[in-house]
Amino acid sequence: MITLGIETSCDDTSLALLSGRKILANLKKEQLIHSKFGGVVPELASREHIRYIVPLFDEVLKQANVSENSIDLVAVTKGPGLIGSLLTGYVFAKSWAFCRGKPYVGVNHLEGHLYAGLLDCEELDFPFLTLIISGGNTLLFLARDHGDYLALGGTRDDAAGEAIDKVGTMLGLKYPAGPEIEKLAEKGNSRFISFPRPSPPGLDFSYSGLKTAVLYALKEMTEDEKIEKKNDIAASFLSALTDSLIMKSSEALKVCGCIKLLLTGGVAANDLLFNKFKEEFRPKKISVFRPKKELCGDNAAMIAYLGSFIYCKNGESDDFSQKADPRSKFP
Ligand code: KG4
Repeated sequence: MITLGIETSCDDTSLALLSGRKILANLKKEQLIHSKFGGVVPELASREHIRYIVPLFDEVLKQANVSENSIDLVAVTKGPGLIGSLLTGYVFAKSWAFCRGKPYVGVNHLEGHLYAGLLDCEELDFPFLTLIISGGNTLLFLARDHGDYLALGGTRDDAAGEAIDKVGTMLGLKYPAGPEIEKLAEKGNSRFISFPRPSPPGLDFSYSGLKTAVLYALKEMTEDEKIEKKNDIAASFLSALTDSLIMKSSEALKVCGCIKLLLTGGVAANDLLFNKFKEEFRPKKISVFRPKKELCGDNAAMIAYLGSFIYCKNGESDDFSQKADPRSKFP
């Protein structure tokens, strides 16, 4: 079965073609327009999706060497996300499926991140703890089986990626700052500043205090010092953020009695963070997984995989009266 995946929940336009579990093509057009604003401008995001989606559809068919007629199913992100962005992908998917007489399924974006792990990590099987770390979410839950999830913790304020992007702006980096912060941190001293390791009660996360701590540290420095110590500041900040994620994951693993942990979402692409997780959990015989980098962040292959799974289980198309749902709940 060939599935077309469409992901337009935020600022990346992504289309993929999957044959079973094999990725035939997985394309993503990042919207550079937002970098000058230091964050995503929703209205501009929807307009950019409209500009990119049709050329990307032609390109994905070409790269996969697949004809339009051979697509059996369309899977599209239904929510959560920005309504204008979601609508672009959703309306495109429904219109295409309706005109071609093909089935379509709308799926949850966050559940898609979990399926990126199932798609790429062959040894990952249920049950496992999942930590989604992205620009909009820091979410910890136990995945007991397909569709059977137990929420454990989430962000109380800024998501991990959001904090990274905001600290990036403080350091004069372009949005999204994650990859650049990682490059700086690789060359820096993580003990330069001992930032707080945020730990709100329970299994929740909070990063606004850490972000403010970076702001205050920068206020104490001269402009020259900020430039000279950029690597050290990035390394110290990333180390504090990673430690707090490790602390909460560690508690959650104990609570669930689980021995497998999946890291997914854009921030999971960070090698420093991933390696620190592995170092921490290896002696405890806990396996840490993450999908390959291009599947960590938002992408349509994970949406196609989740959609094909749901369709094979239920055997029916979604109703064409369904609507995109920017606030859809997960888990
Ligand atoms: O999952 P994602 O592509 O989009 C959503 O937010 O849903 O995640 C994007 C986030 C951004 O905050 C970006 O700065 C961060 O992931 N990111 C990284 C890295 N690559 C992307 N953060 C740290 N290190 C990276 N290498």
